[in-house]
Amino acid sequence: MTTFGRFDDAAREYVITRPDTPLPWINYLGSEDYFGIISNTGGGYSFFRDARLRRLTRYRYNNAPFDVGGRYLYLRDSASGELWSPSWQPVRAELVDYRCRHGLGYTVIGGRRAGIDAETLYFVPLGETLEIWRTRITNRRAEVADLSLFSAVEFCLWDAWDDATNFQRNLSIGEVEVDDGVIYHKTEYRERRNHFAYFACSAELAGFDTQRDAFLGAYRGWERPLVAESGRSGDSIAHGWAPCGSHHVELSLRPGETREVIFVLGYWENPTAEKFDPPGSQTINKARVRDVIDRFRNAGEVDAAFQRLRDQWESLLDSLRVATPSEHVDRMVNIWNAYQCMVTFNLSRSASSFESGIGRGMGFRDSNQDLLGFVHMVPDRARARILDIAATQLPSGGVYHQYQPLTKTGNDAIGSGFNDDPLWLIVAVAAYVKETGDRGILDELVPYDNEPAESPLYEHLQRSMRYTRDRLGPHGLPLIGRADWNDCLNLNCFSETPGEPFQTTENRQGGVAESVFIAGLFTLAAGELATLAELHGHRDDAATFLDARRTMDAAVRAHGWDGAWFRRAYDYYGNPVGSVGNQEGKIFIEPQGMCVLAGIGLDDGKAETALSSVEAHLATPHGIVLQQPAYTRYHVELGEISTYPPGYKENAGVFCHTNPWITIAETLVGHGDRALDYYLRINPSAREAISDQHRCEPYVYAQMIAGRDAPAHGEAKNSWLTGSAAWNFVAATQWILGIRPEHDGLRIDPCLPVGWEGFTATRRFRGASYHLTVRKSGGVQGRLTSLAVDGQRIDGNLVPLAPEGATVSVEAEIDGPT
Ligand code: GLC
Ligand code: GLC
Repeated sequence: MTTFGRFDDAAREYVITRPDTPLPWINYLGSEDYFGIISNTGGGYSFFRDARLRRLTRYRYNNAPFDVGGRYLYLRDSASGELWSPSWQPVRAELVDYRCRHGLGYTVIGGRRAGIDAETLYFVPLGETLEIWRTRITNRRAEVADLSLFSAVEFCLWDAWDDATNFQRNLSIGEVEVDDGVIYHKTEYRERRNHFAYFACSAELAGFDTQRDAFLGAYRGWERPLVAESGRSGDSIAHGWAPCGSHHVELSLRPGETREVIFVLGYWENPTAEKFDPPGSQTINKARVRDVIDRFRNAGEVDAAFQRLRDQWESLLDSLRVATPSEHVDRMVNIWNAYQCMVTFNLSRSASSFESGIGRGMGFRDSNQDLLGFVHMVPDRARARILDIAATQLPSGGVYHQYQPLTKTGNDAIGSGFNDDPLWLIVAVAAYVKETGDRGILDELVPYDNEPAESPLYEHLQRSMRYTRDRLGPHGLPLIGRADWNDCLNLNCFSETPGEPFQTTENRQGGVAESVFIAGLFTLAAGELATLAELHGHRDDAATFLDARRTMDAAVRAHGWDGAWFRRAYDYYGNPVGSVGNQEGKIFIEPQGMCVLAGIGLDDGKAETALSSVEAHLATPHGIVLQQPAYTRYHVELGEISTYPPGYKENAGVFCHTNPWITIAETLVGHGDRALDYYLRINPSAREAISDQHRCEPYVYAQMIAGRDAPAHGEAKNSWLTGSAAWNFVAATQWILGIRPEHDGLRIDPCLPVGWEGFTATRRFRGASYHLTVRKSGGVQGRLTSLAVDGQRIDGNLVPLAPEGATVSVEAEIDGPT
C-alpha cells in the first residue's frame, strides 16, 4: 500500500509529498474566462474560454513520459552549474522536501535542493484573464548563493487541433515581440486575430528567449535546455518554428534571504480598430494591457488577489457544511466533491488528463446532471445554464446530444436521437426550482434550436415528455434511439465497419429496441413535472403527467421485470437485454438504480429484490460494476458496449456515475448501512490508502474504476470531468444525510448506518441558514422519529421555509426503526 500524500482538511488542500505519482495528479486554475490545468509537477496548459480554439500554451497528450508541456522553472547554481526544477519536472533532479499543495483554484509546488528552497504559487485572479506564478526562493546555505532562474512556456498557435496537425503552415507563422522585458506571443495578430498572449516577469532580466530551439538546443528536450544548462540566454526572437517564452533572472541571495519573483502569463484582446501602435504599424498596441501587467508584477496586488480567491471559495463552500463520524464523507462533501462539481460546471468534459480539450462540446444530458451538484452554490449561473441548454432543444422535443460552449448552438455532427436526453432537462429544472423557489423560470421564453420561434421553458419540458411518449415500442417502453444514458448500448447500430462511429450510425431502421432505463427516467421526470405543473397552476397537465407516470410504471412492472431484477432493454429484434436468459450481460446496474429512484417497486418488494441482486451479482470491493457477466466477444446487435475488453468502461467497469443511484436506492428502502458502504467503496478519500492501485487523484472522482473482469481491477481512469461528481454529491448530502431541498421547505430525511450516532450540518437555503443536529441512538438504521424547529416539535420531516436572513435551528432524532 503506497500513498503519495495526505489531506490537509483545515487548509482545504491535498498535499502531495512525492513527485512520482502514478499519473499526473492535476488541479484547475481559473473559474471564469481564463483556465488552466496544472499537474503536481508543473505540467499542464492554459486557455481562454475554449480549450480548443484559444489554447495559450502547448501540451503534448499521450506522450512518453506522461505530462510534457507546462509552466516550467529552472534553477541553476552559478558556482557549481547544478541545474534543477523546483517543481521536479522537467529536470527531475531529486528534491528534498518536495511538496505540491493542490487547493481550491490554486496550486503551490516547491522543494529544496543544494540548500536552496523554492516554492511557487500558481493561480488565476478573479475577474482577470491571466495567471500568476509567484516564486519564493530562499537561501538556506551559510554563504551567498548566486543563482539563475529561468521560466519557460511553449506557446500554442491558438487552435489546439490545428496546432497539433498543420505543420506545413504552422512552422512558418509564429511571431513574437519583446518589449520592456515582456514577451508577447502574437501569431496571426497581423491578420484576423485581435488577441495575443503575454508573459511578464517582476524582476529585471538578464536575458530572454522566444524561439524554442534556441532555448532547448538541438536534439534536447525540456529536461535539459541548453540555455538553462549554460546559464546564458540567447535573446532569441521567434520567427516561425515554435515560439516560446523564457525569462532569465539572476539572483544573489545572502544566507537566509528570500526573494520573490512574479511571472504573469495572460491573454488580451484589443479592439480591432486599436490593434496597432503607432496606427498603421505592425506593433501590438500595449496601451490597455500594460496597466494589468504592471499591477500584477506587484507583490501586494498578488497577495490581495489571492486572498479574494480564497474568500470566494470559502463563501461557495459555506452553502453546506457537515460534520459526521466519517472523515471521508466530511472532506468530500465539504471540500473536494463540491469543488469537483464546480469544475464540471466550468469545464464540462473539455480539458483534463483524459479530455484533450479538442474533443467534445457540452453534453446535453451531462450538463443537466452536472447541475445537480452545483445549483446550491451558484444558483444564478445554474439558471443561465438551464436557459442555454434549453435553447438547443429541437421543436420535436428531441435535443442535440451536444452543443458548443462558444456559440451555444447544437452540434450537427453528432445530431440527436439519444432518447434519454430530453428528460434530463426536466430533472435539472426541478432541482433548480426546488433549490431557489424561482418558478418564474418556467415562464422564460426560450427558443428551439436557437431559432427565433420561442416558447416558455415550461413548454420545452412538456415537449421533452411528449418526445418519449411519441416514441414507445411494442411493450409500451420508450424506444432507445441511438443510445440512452449508456452511450455504448447501441441497439440500432449493427456496425461491421472499423472506425464507424457507434453513436451516430444507425444501420437498421424501423427497429423496436426499447429501454427500461428510459422508462425509469421517464417515470421520475413525469413525477417532477407533475409537481411543477401543479405549482404553476396547470392542474390538468399535472393529472396528465401523473397518468403517464402510472402507465409507464405499469409497463415497467409488466415487461421490464425479469424475476429478480429489472431488465435493461429490448433489442432490435425484441429480445430482452439484461435478462437471466442472456449468456452475457444478464444484469445491468442502470435500471436497478433508476427504476427504484423513480419509486417503481418500492411497494411490492421488487426494489428490495433488485437491490439484493445488485449486491449478489454486481458489487465488488471497488464499487458496483455496470453489468455481469461482461461481454467477452463483439455483439453486433448491442454495439460499442461489447467492444471494450471485459471490465473496462461500459463493459462491466465500475462506472462511478451509476453507483450513487444504487446508494440512493438503498436509502429509499431504508438500508443505511449498505448505502454508506457503497458510497465509501468509490469515495476517492476512502481509497487514498490504495493510491498505488487506484492511481488517479485521491481527491476527486474518476469516471471509471476497472471492474472485476479486468486484470487491473481497482484502477481508476478518467478523473475529474464526470457525472460521478454531481451524483455522489447528491447521494451523500440529500439521501444519506437526507438534507433535501423541496419546493416548500427543507426535507430532513437521513438514512444512516447503524454505527453512527448522528451528525451536524449547516445548510444555506433560500437565503436562510439552517443549523441541523441529528441524534441517533446506536444500533439502528431507521428514519426520523422526531423533529424540532427552533425548539418547537413539528409533524413530519419538512422544515418550513424561513424568511431570508433567518437562522433556524433544527433538531432531529432517530431512535428506532419506523
Ligand atoms: C460518459 C458520457 C455520458 C454517458 C456515460 C455512459 O460519461 O459523458 O453522457 O452517460 O459516458 O455512457
Ligand atoms: C465513448 C465512450 C463513452 C462516452 C462516449 C461519449 O463511447 O466509451 O464512455 O460516453 O464515447 O461520446
